[in-house]
Amino acid sequence: MSKTDKRLHVARVPSNIAFVKYWGKRDTTLQWPANDSLSMTLSAAHTITSAQIATGGPDRIEAGGTLLSGKRLDKARKHLDFLRAELGFAAPLLINTKNSFPSDCGIASSASGLAALTVAAIAAWTDAGTLADLDAEGFDRRRLAALARRGSGSACRSLFGGYVAWQAGGSPAEQSVRVVRDAESMPLVDLIVIVSTAAKTHGSTEAHQTAWSSPLFAPRLAGLPERFARVESAIKRGDFSALGHEIETEALEMHAVMMSSTPSANYFAPQTSEITAWLRRERLRGEFEAYFTIDAGPNLHVICEPKAADYVASRIQAAFPTQSGAPLEVLRDHTGSGPVLNALNLDEPR
Ligand code: PMV
Repeated sequence: MSKTDKRLHVARVPSNIAFVKYWGKRDTTLQWPANDSLSMTLSAAHTITSAQIATGGPDRIEAGGTLLSGKRLDKARKHLDFLRAELGFAAPLLINTKNSFPSDCGIASSASGLAALTVAAIAAWTDAGTLADLDAEGFDRRRLAALARRGSGSACRSLFGGYVAWQAGGSPAEQSVRVVRDAESMPLVDLIVIVSTAAKTHGSTEAHQTAWSSPLFAPRLAGLPERFARVESAIKRGDFSALGHEIETEALEMHAVMMSSTPSANYFAPQTSEITAWLRRERLRGEFEAYFTIDAGPNLHVICEPKAADYVASRIQAAFPTQSGAPLEVLRDHTGSGPVLNALNLDEPR
């Protein structure tokens, strides 16, 4: 197939939820994180992005059929320019992208968005029909992850399924991404509790850099290697209780760093705190076993085993009625198996 073919290439890449958070960078250009992180790849929360070689002009980037604008457009353009310069491709692209979930409010849309853009764009430039074709063209998952990382750090973990570690290594070039455990052998549910879909006021790209100003950041970094080891070991042993306790402490610690930074970033909405306190209370009473984690946004990710998911979701909705009387939105997601390229059931994201 010719490299100038104008076939449409469609990538579906899942979001991920970090159990050990990436917060703070040692190098902003090369996207070298301050610490190792570890996430669970999701499934229902994903981005579908199509890419096609354009005949001329600048890249045309649409979200669900409408031209993209503002920061999302700048980020996407910058990443396409980086990929072209790095890989030696020249052609402009027609891009259309769609998230299956609300963007910019703590469901890691930049992770799935930048990873899907990377896969779709390179598939269009190389005219690769499958992920195996991309691999044959010299773009295996690790290389795709390293390229996606430059658009958004957490995007590198979305290139793999299951439980995924991103290790900082001794230099920017020594970073690596690896699968700790596959999705099938330890399925967990992520109940994403939508407290607010308002776009966050501090984008994570800028906020990462404020971490170094927090007096809590140095002690956090000192303790993280041990926490990472405990989280990895809990996943490998399938010890859900040990994992759950670690991820709550970890999320609260990252938010304590955010809040004590200058300038301070507080992503919690009042209901975020109410739900975390309620969840812990109910767990202590033996009502159910579920644990929260929270990214850079007000929404909560409540992690539980599949057998408990329906009950936990219904209890959250009963305990937190909305003013309109409609049930609080709880999106049900689970451990996912990673990206898909040009599958038969992938329609163009319009
Ligand atoms: O990849 P970024 O720059 O959007 O940063 C993501 C940071 C957190 O979502 C808060 C944590 C993480 O590891 O995903």
